[in-house]
Amino acid sequence: MSTHIGAKAGEIAERVLLPGDPLRAKFIAETFLENAVCYNNVRGMLGFTGTYKGKRVSVQGTGMGMPSIGIYAYELINFYGAKRLIRTGTCGSASKEFDLRDVVFAQAAATDSGVLRTRLGSEVAFPPVADFFLLRDAVEAAEGLGKKFKVGTVLSDDLFYNENSEERYALLNKYGVSCVEMECAELFTLGARHGVQTLGILTVSDMIFEDRFCTSEEREQSFTDMMEIALEAI
Ligand code: HPA
Repeated sequence: MSTHIGAKAGEIAERVLLPGDPLRAKFIAETFLENAVCYNNVRGMLGFTGTYKGKRVSVQGTGMGMPSIGIYAYELINFYGAKRLIRTGTCGSASKEFDLRDVVFAQAAATDSGVLRTRLGSEVAFPPVADFFLLRDAVEAAEGLGKKFKVGTVLSDDLFYNENSEERYALLNKYGVSCVEMECAELFTLGARHGVQTLGILTVSDMIFEDRFCTSEEREQSFTDMMEIALEAI
């Protein structure tokens, strides 16, 4: 057991999908995994281990934001031996090139968060990047499944509700930062620090500069694409 995960040693796989929503972890386990067993219910942050096409996989909810995913990813890596971790979640698009339901592989994550300054000071801007080989596996998995995807840089934002954000998103968009979410930068940073492979596979759920967002039906279908790609890739 670790502080926030109630699993015994060996109950969590080396390959872990990380949805923010614990109920999505349950959905993935029930829909795609064989013989899925729930190993965690601490704080309702459900985690399951099962097999996907013979491969042992865990799915662990992380909650929202970098402090929350940081806790779960740190414990998975350092106390349970996780080696390949893919965040599967949603993002908002700040770019015309990324539309609703697009599946986006986050290859890098800019962030306004204090988590990097707290670790490394403010003189160096550390770049949180996904693992190249895991990204390559995701590309091959999507191509094998015949599913479309895009690759981009995301912003891992600390605040979901921020009255000053639109100008900032528009500026960052000029630097190729296309989508906004709240977790990848911390996951990628932990991957770098602890020598494990990390990636974000996201689905665009809302258009930040337009009043458009996915209906629940659309969410279900496109989220399923993202989950299948992640399960094939992990
Ligand atoms: N902002 C931050 N995180 C998000 C968004 C967003 O617009 N959409 C989905 N996750």
